[in-house]
Amino acid sequence: MKAAVYYETGPPDVFRSEEVPDPACPADGVVVDVEAVSIEGGDVGHRARGELAARPHIVGYQCAGVIREVGPGVGDRETGQRVVAIMLHGSHAERAAVPAAATWIVPDGLDLRRAACVPIPFGTADDCLFEFGHLQAGETVLVHAGAGGVGLAAIQLAKRAGATVLATASSDAKLAKLETFGLDHGINTRSVDFAAAAREITGGRGVDLVIDSVGGRTLAGSIEALAYRGRIAFVGSAARDDYRPDWTALRPGNKTVTGIFLGAEFAIHHERVHAMIQRHLEEVARGTLAVVIDREYPLAEAAAAHARVESREAFGRVLLIP
Ligand SMILES: NC(=O)c1ccc[n+]([C@@H]2O[C@H](COP(=O)([O-])OP(=O)(O)OC[C@H]3O[C@@H](n4cnc5c(N)ncnc54)[C@H](OP(=O)(O)O)[C@@H]3O)[C@@H](O)[C@H]2O)c1
Repeated sequence: MKAAVYYETGPPDVFRSEEVPDPACPADGVVVDVEAVSIEGGDVGHRARGELAARPHIVGYQCAGVIREVGPGVGDRETGQRVVAIMLHGSHAERAAVPAAATWIVPDGLDLRRAACVPIPFGTADDCLFEFGHLQAGETVLVHAGAGGVGLAAIQLAKRAGATVLATASSDAKLAKLETFGLDHGINTRSVDFAAAAREITGGRGVDLVIDSVGGRTLAGSIEALAYRGRIAFVGSAARDDYRPDWTALRPGNKTVTGIFLGAEFAIHHERVHAMIQRHLEEVARGTLAVVIDREYPLAEAAAAHARVESREAFGRVLLIP
């Protein structure tokens, strides 16, 4: 099969389009003919500076396609079914092998391209807001990188939960588009200090919850942006900024930071997370939640697709189509 691989991490041009062996079907898994790959924030971060599972490495956490093979230990999947799957690596290829438990049947009416964008961003946003963030109606939430995958999901879920939604983005154009997804107050990180802006928007009080997928200096600013007893759901390091905030800044305001990793929750509380993501897929199929596709590239153009994500011009997901 064809795959987008790399031998070393680095900028997007580390990608090579190569012929590699087809993945073997695990006894408890399936092999999927991949029709759409959603480039996750984690894929870009791995390509830049992750650890290689093998050389060459096939990156990628999430894709959708059609089952071509089913392992002997699997009773609830059949060849020909349309599924979306998550994995530790391997989405940037024509075929992917995954445990059946890490797949979801794609509901009728939902195309594979949009399905490919759902599990990780919506599952992560939901857990950040509710399971760990304890968001309540009437509270104020600040979503960093609102035009990214996790951000777009978090804005929609927070708004309909009755929160006032603030979000950051690096352009006014992105912030304007976010209004149709539930954004109440946009903050352009290229023109203002977001923590000061969040305090001003909330009349000096600060926000109750921050969804921080950016990390580093942004995480330090998130602490400043919090209200008394405010919470931070710290979920990602999109900025690749290794700056460590001063944690003593949490103490005077009884503020908390929770580190969040969807993969651990999926492994340990599998039924809860699998069912939650199934509900998100059904809602996207019905149109009560939306995914946004920015651009599509052929698999052989993985370098250009990753460069598009890193340009910070994208609004929503960039896809690879094998
Ligand atoms: N822990 C978990 O379970 C989990 C799950 C999902 C994702 N994540 C992590 O969460 C982060 C976001 O994921 P995602 O899928 O939402 O990513 P994404 O769709 O690629 O969005 C990332 C956004 O980060 C913003 N950003 C801020 N500072 C940046 C910088 N210095 N360089 C590049 N981008 C910057 C950009 O928006 P602006 O240009 O508008 O600022 C960009 O759109 C990633 O680090 C990912 O690994 C973690």
